[in-house]
Amino acid sequence: MCGIVGYIGARQAPQVVLQGLKRLEYRGYDSAGVATLAHNGEITIRRNVGKLANLEAMLADSPLTGHIGIGHTRWATHGAPSQRNAHPHLGMNGRVVVVHNGIVENFLVLREELEVEGVQFQSETDTEVIVQMVERYVEAGLEFGTAVRRTLKQLHGANAVVVMSLDHPDRLICARLGNAGGITLGIGQEEMFIASDIPAILEYTRQMVFLENRQMAQISQRDYQVMDLDGNPLTAEVHNIAWDPVSAAKGEYKHFMQKEIFEQPQAIIDTLRGRADFENGRVSLPEMNLTPELAQRIQKLFIVACGTSYYSGLAGKFLFEHIARLPTEVEYGSEFRYYNPIITEDTAVLSITQSGETADTLAASEQAQAAGATLWSIVNAFGSQSMRIADGCIPMQAGPEIGVASTKAFTTSLVDQYLLACALGELRGVLSPARLRQLIADLAQLPDLAGRVFDEDAYYQELAAHFFKAQNFLFLGRGINYPIALEGALKLKEISYIHAEGYPAGEMKHGPIALIDETMPVVAIATKDSLYEKIVSQIQQTKARGGVVIAVATEGDEAIAREADHVIYVPKTPPLLAPVVNVIPLQLLSYHIAVRRGADVDQPRNLAKSVTVE
Ligand code: AGP
Repeated sequence: MCGIVGYIGARQAPQVVLQGLKRLEYRGYDSAGVATLAHNGEITIRRNVGKLANLEAMLADSPLTGHIGIGHTRWATHGAPSQRNAHPHLGMNGRVVVVHNGIVENFLVLREELEVEGVQFQSETDTEVIVQMVERYVEAGLEFGTAVRRTLKQLHGANAVVVMSLDHPDRLICARLGNAGGITLGIGQEEMFIASDIPAILEYTRQMVFLENRQMAQISQRDYQVMDLDGNPLTAEVHNIAWDPVSAAKGEYKHFMQKEIFEQPQAIIDTLRGRADFENGRVSLPEMNLTPELAQRIQKLFIVACGTSYYSGLAGKFLFEHIARLPTEVEYGSEFRYYNPIITEDTAVLSITQSGETADTLAASEQAQAAGATLWSIVNAFGSQSMRIADGCIPMQAGPEIGVASTKAFTTSLVDQYLLACALGELRGVLSPARLRQLIADLAQLPDLAGRVFDEDAYYQELAAHFFKAQNFLFLGRGINYPIALEGALKLKEISYIHAEGYPAGEMKHGPIALIDETMPVVAIATKDSLYEKIVSQIQQTKARGGVVIAVATEGDEAIAREADHVIYVPKTPPLLAPVVNVIPLQLLSYHIAVRRGADVDQPRNLAKSVTVE
C-alpha cells in the first residue's frame, strides 16, 4: 500500500516528509519521492526507485528546501516501478503536484479525454490524470479547492490524494474517496501534517483528525478545514492518540516483527483491559453497543476477513458456536463480496482486520451492512474505516503493528472474539453465571502463559538452524488448532519464501501423506485436548513414512517425545484459549528461519502491510 506524507510549517518540509515516509516503510513500496515549493516559487521534485535510502542519497546530492511539501512511497499498481512512474506527479505546466494512494478505475477514459485536449502525459500511472485535470481546471480560472473537488468527483475507485499548487504556497488540499487507505491530519503548534497512517507523524503531534469517505480538507500552517466534496464545511472529531512514539519504533529488537511477537503478552493485557471483569466474572464491551434484544435476534454470524485475520476468524468460529451457540460461517472478504450471501436482519457480520483498511474486507462489510446485516468489527488501527463504519466495534488495542507479517493483532483478535462470544452467550441466555465466571477466570492467566513460551526462544533458534534450508513445510492441526496450522504455514511462507501448507491433520490420509519424506518437515500441533490421541496417530502415520515431525506439545507430556523428532513444549492452556499460546512458537520458528535465510522480515517481497486495492 502506498504511503503519503504532507507538511506545512516552520520546519524544513523535505526532512519532515522523508522522516514520515520512513515510518511508513512497513507498508511495502518500490519507489519514493518528495516535492517542495521552494522560496523561489518553484515546485521541485526528487524521486527514485528502490528503498528510501536511494531517495535520501539523491536529496543529499541535490537538496530540496521549503516549508511546504508532500511525499510518497509507491506500491505499483499501474505502470512498472520506475523513476518516471514514481510520485509526486507534476502537471504538464508545472503548476500543480500530486501524491496518490489507490486506483483511478476510469483513468484510461480520463486520460484519452485529456490527450484529446492536448495534454502530454509523462508516465503510465493512473495518478497522472488527477494532477493534469486539477491543473487544467486551475488554468481555466477555477479556485484551487473547486478545481480539486471537480476533479475528485470524476474519479471512480478508492483514492486518497494530496495536492500542492504553485499559486497557493500557503496551503495543501487532501481528500479521501472510498477505502484506499486513510488520510490523517496532524494538528501541530503553528504547523500541520497529513499522513496515510499515524506512525508517520506521531513524533510531532498526538492531535489527529481522520477523514471519512468522500471528504476533503484544506490545511494551512495555522488552520485546517474539513469539508464535503461540495465544499460544505464539516466538523471533524479531533482524537488524542495515546500511542507513544517509542512503541512505534523497534526498541531493542532486530525487526518490528520480532518486537511485536514479544509484545503479545502485553497486547493481551491491553486488549483485556477494561473488558474482562475478573472480580465479577463479567465482560464489558461498551463500543459493541450490544443489547439483549439484539443478541437474541441474531441467528447467524458471518466472519469476513483476509489472510491472517481470516485464520483468526476460523478459530473464532469454534468460540462463537461453542460459547455463544451462534451458528457461524467464516469467509474470505474477497469471496464473500461476490457470492451473494444470504443476509437478513437476523444476520451479523464480524470483520476482523488489523489495518481496518483492507479493501476486500471493507467491501464485504459495506455490502453486508447495506443488505441489512448488523456490522461488527475487531480492528487494531485507530480511526480506520472498518472502525468507523461498524455498528459495534472492539478495538484490539494491540498498539501499532508495523511488521508486514501480522502477529500481535492475530492473538489479540482471538482474545477479542473470546470476549465477544462470552458477552453474546450471556445476553443470549446460553451461558450460566458459573460457566461465564470460569471462562473469564481462564483469561486471567493467559498473558503469563503466552509469556512463558519465550523461555524457549533459544531452542526455536536451534530448530531454525536445523530446518532453514527446507524447501517445503507441512503444518497440521485439528479442531480449533487447525486454523493455527494454517496461520503457521502463512507466517513461514510470507517471510521466508519457503512453500508451506496448513492442513487438517485428519485429512493427511486423503492425499497429503503422499508428500511425506525426510525433506519436508511436518509441524504438528499436539497439545492436550479432546483430539490429542487423534493427532498423535497422525504423527505416527507420518513417522512411519519417513517423515520428520516437530510437535507442539503440552509441557509435561513425555509420551510425545517418543513419537516426534523434535518437541516444542508450551504451557498447559484451557483448550478454547490454546490457539493464542500455540501460535507463538510457530511465529518464532518462522521468524528465526527467515532471519537465517537473510529475508527482509519486516517488508517481505511483493507484500504490503495493508492491501487497500482489490
Ligand atoms: C498476514 O501476516 C498478512 N500480512 C496478511 O495476510 C494480512 O493478515 C491480510 O492482508 C489482512 O490484513 P488486515 O488484518 O489488516 O485486514
